[in-house]
Amino acid sequence: MPKTDHYRDLVSQLGALLQGERDFIANAANAAALLFHALPEVNWAGFYLLKDGQLLLGPFQGKPACTRIVPGKGVCGTAAQRRRTMVVEDVHQFPGHIACDCDSNSEIVVPIIRHGELIGVLDLDSPLPGRFDAQDQAGLEEFVAVLLASTDEP
Ligand code: SME
Repeated sequence: MPKTDHYRDLVSQLGALLQGERDFIANAANAAALLFHALPEVNWAGFYLLKDGQLLLGPFQGKPACTRIVPGKGVCGTAAQRRRTMVVEDVHQFPGHIACDCDSNSEIVVPIIRHGELIGVLDLDSPLPGRFDAQDQAGLEEFVAVLLASTDEP
């Protein structure tokens, strides 16, 4: 199935999954599980949520990960600071990359922004170099928009 079709299905599955629940953490937890199980070649999928000026580990699937990331540090911190999606083909070439799972070789991080305020980031890792591209970016940005629309918090 072409990637764009896969993401269209995934986004509609997320909408159905989150229907009737307005709690952000519960919905983010189901969103992480959906991504982790539906996307091929992904070894970590989850959220870091902004708290007291730091990105704090939120709901995720995958191996245990570092709990706090300072904005500006690593791929997550860079996406948070720039408020832009980061697609990194080779994490080992990314200055300041924070290695949580040594299986990870590529990464995509999508900032989560509500009414101009950064709430956190969605982070996906892959063991495959160059796993993520512009289609993943478009699909995951749409995915985050559906998650945001499911709740008024945080
Ligand atoms: N690699 C990330 C840290 C989080 S883990 O990948 C789960 C980074 O450089 O920000």
